[in-house]
Amino acid sequence: MFSPNCGNDENSCVLGIETSCDDTAAAVLVDGVLRSSIISSQSEHIPFGGVVPELASRAHDRHLVPVVEAALHEAGIQAGDLTGIAVTRGPGLIGSLMVGVSFAKSLAAGLGVPLVGVHHLDGHIDSLLLGGTPPERPTLVLVVSGGHTQLMTVNASGERQLLGKTRDDAAGEAFDKVAAILGLDYPGGPVIDRLAMTGNPSFHAFPRTRLAGYDWSFSGIKTSMLYHLGSMDAPARAAYLEKHLQDLCASFQEAVVDMLITPVVRAMKQTGFRSVGLVGGVSANSRLRARLGSEVEARGGHLHVPELSYSMDNAAMIALSGCLRLTRGEQDPLSITAQPSLPMDLRP
Ligand code: KG4
Ligand code: ZN
Repeated sequence: MFSPNCGNDENSCVLGIETSCDDTAAAVLVDGVLRSSIISSQSEHIPFGGVVPELASRAHDRHLVPVVEAALHEAGIQAGDLTGIAVTRGPGLIGSLMVGVSFAKSLAAGLGVPLVGVHHLDGHIDSLLLGGTPPERPTLVLVVSGGHTQLMTVNASGERQLLGKTRDDAAGEAFDKVAAILGLDYPGGPVIDRLAMTGNPSFHAFPRTRLAGYDWSFSGIKTSMLYHLGSMDAPARAAYLEKHLQDLCASFQEAVVDMLITPVVRAMKQTGFRSVGLVGGVSANSRLRARLGSEVEARGGHLHVPELSYSMDNAAMIALSGCLRLTRGEQDPLSITAQPSLPMDLRP
């Protein structure tokens, strides 16, 4: 249990709800202190090698009430004690978002408490405040998840400005797609990370797509893996994977990590910022944490990463983002809707 510094909001009790993709999550913050964080991950998608939107929304519909009840129970509070509800409003899968947003609106209306719709990436950025030392601002933040790869600056008052983003696949998507090509389970990132630990990162030289500025492209490396294995017939490929699966995972991961790091280092040089945050599901990657950490420290900076349990999608970060907005006196009308392509509130 720790205090994520959610302002001086005494007697506040905020429920956070996250259903943007395939994790059903609820968390409770009491007076700015995280009291519970429950995550129910959907295993329905494993046989399909990716998230099936229809299955995801149906599973949220089944799991959300028990997950919220578990979060309230673990926090030792009743629904009537809540003073605010925060819910992920977007971006994400429309059906999944709608389950969370509809539930949050009904609960807020029933209890007569304020509602806040949170941008999913604001939640990931605020996950840096969940424990550990909060990053000094201004800071650079690398957001790497299954749906997004973005580099932004966050200034002293918390305003975000986008520096660059992926032009095609997100980094997590590249991990998941390459894992599917290699016949590994979904989500592929953690599986590749684990296998890569005993592989040789120099075994195969995957191409590193490097763009000017701060943008990325990850579609080339996925195609490269496809062509590399496609040049072999089925028995030869099976024998090759039997012998070199770990080496391929390590080589692929090394190339993605190299690509991710380059614009961050460039931005450190050009902005002079020394504080760097790494958030989103891919921030759990052990090689990325280690290599980016060394690169940042070599330039006199410090890398901030959330605790592993707050790297992947969770509702603690949504409760915290919502709590920060409520503390500033903000709230949203009950007429808000789920927004699958919700834009971020960015400085021009
Ligand atoms: O943030 P997140 O939980 O959900 C989205 O907002 O997309 O990120 C999920 C992504 C998946 O693509 C998953 O494969 C990736 O994060 N991921 C990882 C690792 N753990 C999760 N990628 C690389 N290495 C990991 N250890
Ligand atoms: Zn996420």
